[in-house]
Amino acid sequence: MSQDNEKRLAAETAVHRYVENGTFKGGIIGVGTGSTVNFFIDALAPFRDKIKAAVSSSEASSDRLRKLGIDVLDLNAAGRLDLYVDGADECDAQKRLIKGGGAALTREKIVAAASDKFVCIIDASKQVDVLGTFPLPIEVIPMARSLVAREIVALGGQPVWRDGVVTDNGNWILDVHNWRITQPVELEATLNQIVGIVTVGLFAKRPADVVIVGNREI
Ligand code: 5RP
Repeated sequence: MSQDNEKRLAAETAVHRYVENGTFKGGIIGVGTGSTVNFFIDALAPFRDKIKAAVSSSEASSDRLRKLGIDVLDLNAAGRLDLYVDGADECDAQKRLIKGGGAALTREKIVAAASDKFVCIIDASKQVDVLGTFPLPIEVIPMARSLVAREIVALGGQPVWRDGVVTDNGNWILDVHNWRITQPVELEATLNQIVGIVTVGLFAKRPADVVIVGNREI
């Protein structure tokens, strides 16, 4: 099966299990960002009557949701969410993730933190034994880019500025290459202490609760 078909299958499985038949009934759903989530949004459309509204992690996902007739709320107006569905760039056996390939990591982490259940939808290429083959995205305040980069080099990473990309929050992204992340919870905590970092694309302290790979749930 192609990678795109596996993404579509994971997205449709999430809609089937968690929206059509799950405990989620008529509430507000958290929706992430990326090509897998685009399949999820498209698969959600026939069930729009079961959804009161969505909270989204990016302008791109908000536009797509609205075009399909699903209201999008600000998180401040929504309160706690029952369910958040999003993709990932890498996922280990403990459901810890690297996210931010689409530069939406800050809002993704916020919506995940505000949600009781985080369902991650991926294709099999995203599954890894050790996180870090995919360069770790880090959102930084623009004036702190070099400062943060030097701190990361001191920790053993190789940061590369994602030149030309500005996040929905007006910030920049450093992608850290050649990091074999054997202790993701500790690394996330260490990086969170560096002044100028807004968000680290490691979702280790708050991993996914459920991961759907194609039509398999792990
Ligand atoms: C965006 C993300 C995405 O979830 C991640 O990049 C996966 O994207 P895709 O579904 O297109 O493979 O974290 O910031």
